[in-house]
Amino acid sequence: MPVEIFPNCALYPLDVLGDERGSLIAIEGGRDVPFEIARVYYIFGTQPDVERGFHAHRDLNQYAVCVTGSCTVMVDNGSERRTIALGRPDEALRLGPMIWHEMRDFSPDCVLMVLADAHYEEADYIRDYDQFVVAAGLGR
Ligand code: TYD
Repeated sequence: MPVEIFPNCALYPLDVLGDERGSLIAIEGGRDVPFEIARVYYIFGTQPDVERGFHAHRDLNQYAVCVTGSCTVMVDNGSERRTIALGRPDEALRLGPMIWHEMRDFSPDCVLMVLADAHYEEADYIRDYDQFVVAAGLGR
């Protein structure tokens, strides 16, 4: 069962297919995530004390999985914020549209993999926090 943080932001458990050899997780577009996966990117080799993100997306849907290591993600819907600790490969954080997010506390071995429903498009980003709060208040 997902743990809802905001209406389009939640933590989802991922099914682990394990046997005596170890574990395996499969994420299929349209099944395990509710969209066809258009893009996968991953953040790794993050330098100490680096903070990333500091933006929201107007339309993009993303699921973030901390495949190795750990980090924290601060999520903000324009009126409330929560900090989520990610540190297991069998859990995905849904970052839907209009969720401001900031990532920090990356462990040196952190690999943060993100599945997205669209190709990279800078026009979809809101990088100014005040502009984000106004847009969120207007229902985008
Ligand atoms: P950026 O969005 O600033 O990273 P973060 O929000 O995690 O701090 O992206 C860093 C750079 O990588 C920027 O020049 C845009 C580029 N980029 C792509 O070309 N494609 C992608 O899918 C992403 C996420 C970033």
